[in-house]
Amino acid sequence: MPAIFFTFYLLLFSSLAVADEERGKKVAFTFELGNCLACHRIAEGDSPGTIGPELTALPNRFADKAQLRAFIWDASQFNPQTSMPPFGKNKILSRDDIDAVVDYLWRVP
Ligand code: HEC
Repeated sequence: MPAIFFTFYLLLFSSLAVADEERGKKVAFTFELGNCLACHRIAEGDSPGTIGPELTALPNRFADKAQLRAFIWDASQFNPQTSMPPFGKNKILSRDDIDAVVDYLWRVP
């Protein structure tokens, strides 16, 4: 009996994770949302800008998702001169959308 509940939770959480990543991709690529593509090359994204570095293999650059999230939340904490907007601190994106874009970018090749 408990195994059936476990399977149910597993299915529920894996479908939520997929939904999050799809939202994250939308956040990264959509002008009205994060518009990360305006400054960053991202695999799967057309016509990227070149103001920032390519967003690729981010698990090699950040120790964990929390550190990646902290960067997106407020890049100026890491470089006061940065031209990257502080998406969390300035409430440009919601917490959920920042989580979603982190989940998406963590997996992008
Ligand atoms: C206006 C241009 C601009 C936009 C828009 C922008 N960034 Fe950036 N980003 C930069 C720049 C420039 C850097 C280089 C780091 C610095 O300036 O210190 C950077 C660095 C990064 C890094 C660190 C990459 C590394 O390898 O060190 C991540 C991660 C990142 N940006 C994610 C995002 C995400 C996610 C979005 C969208 C929600 C976004 N950026 C939108 C300009 C931008």
